[in-house]
Amino acid sequence: TGSTYLVTGGAGFIGSHTVQALRARGDRVVVLDDLRQGHAEAVPADVPLVVADLADRARLAEVFSTWKIDAVLHFAALSLVGESMTDPIRYCRDNLANAMNLAEAAVAGGCRRFVLSSTAALFLPPEDGSPIADDAVPNPQNAYGESKYLIERALVWADKVHGLRTAALRYFNAAGCDPEGVLGEDHDPETHLIPIAIDAALGRRPPLAIFGTDYPTRDGTAIRDYIHVCDLASAHLAALDRLEVGSCRYNLGTGTGTTVQEVVAAVERVSGRKVPVRDAPRRAGDPAVLVARSDRFQIDTGWEPRMRRLDDLVATAWNWRQRHPDGYRSRPAAKLAAG
Ligand code: UFG
Repeated sequence: TGSTYLVTGGAGFIGSHTVQALRARGDRVVVLDDLRQGHAEAVPADVPLVVADLADRARLAEVFSTWKIDAVLHFAALSLVGESMTDPIRYCRDNLANAMNLAEAAVAGGCRRFVLSSTAALFLPPEDGSPIADDAVPNPQNAYGESKYLIERALVWADKVHGLRTAALRYFNAAGCDPEGVLGEDHDPETHLIPIAIDAALGRRPPLAIFGTDYPTRDGTAIRDYIHVCDLASAHLAALDRLEVGSCRYNLGTGTGTTVQEVVAAVERVSGRKVPVRDAPRRAGDPAVLVARSDRFQIDTGWEPRMRRLDDLVATAWNWRQRHPDGYRSRPAAKLAAG
């Protein structure tokens, strides 16, 4: 038996790890991805991959009529804070319109559960840097966060009117990767701290620019809550169960804040190499501190983040990069050696 899940963005970073977790417990999965950011190589061979754009409503209707979808997990979106501040209209339009196309097709297709990838970026972090609770009032400071908040709000009405139950999961900083090194983080361009620090350590890119060294934090660099992507994946399984009770929204983090300097030190310990760095100005839209209080999700579902040590988290990312120096484009090392 088992259920069938539609995973949009299932070829992307967090989506592919969630597909892996669903498959591991024997669920059927259909991935929908336009492959602009995603990688077909990240989708298991026995998982149907529909290469389609969420703007294509006819195609979406077809997906829901081809498969009996029990729940949708919606990862596919534009997701860069910085880019959203140069192109806010595209971010708000595409993210909202695509999510609404998907919700509409889900409702029409008789699917009643929807898990939304939301973000910590919809909060204005408190001045004192204290952890953000689930019931904090959203107040987005960038267009990316706004686009996710717009989706969350629209889905409240889809529930009230159509009974589409939604779990809005507000991720803090997703990081690390599959400990087996099969799945990894492969963005183009890469903007995230840990993969950039690793490539700097490997001499594969220029020194890491530390965006801001004058924040009111213990070492002057910005604090984030890094949560392992496999813990995020398992949180989706817990959220699917939680939807039996009704719609919900949760913050997903570890509750522990880490500075940029501390991440750099962890990469140095794990790699045994120096990470070349240079001080750089603050990045626009970056808050000083962004840490979750996610105890409510743990209480409500029994979920717990397992990868709690920063070095363990960084080691998974380091392992992936060793095996895949060029990301998913890399050929296996043995073949490379053979020319
Ligand atoms: N940083 C650097 N140098 C770099 C890259 C990042 O100093 O080259 C710093 C950033 O300024 C920030 C920290 O490292 O202080 C983490 O930056 P990331 O770019 O890895 O992640 P962000 O916190 O900017 O954003 C991530 C996701 C967003 C999401 C947000 C929510 O990319 O989609 O977390 O917490 F909204």
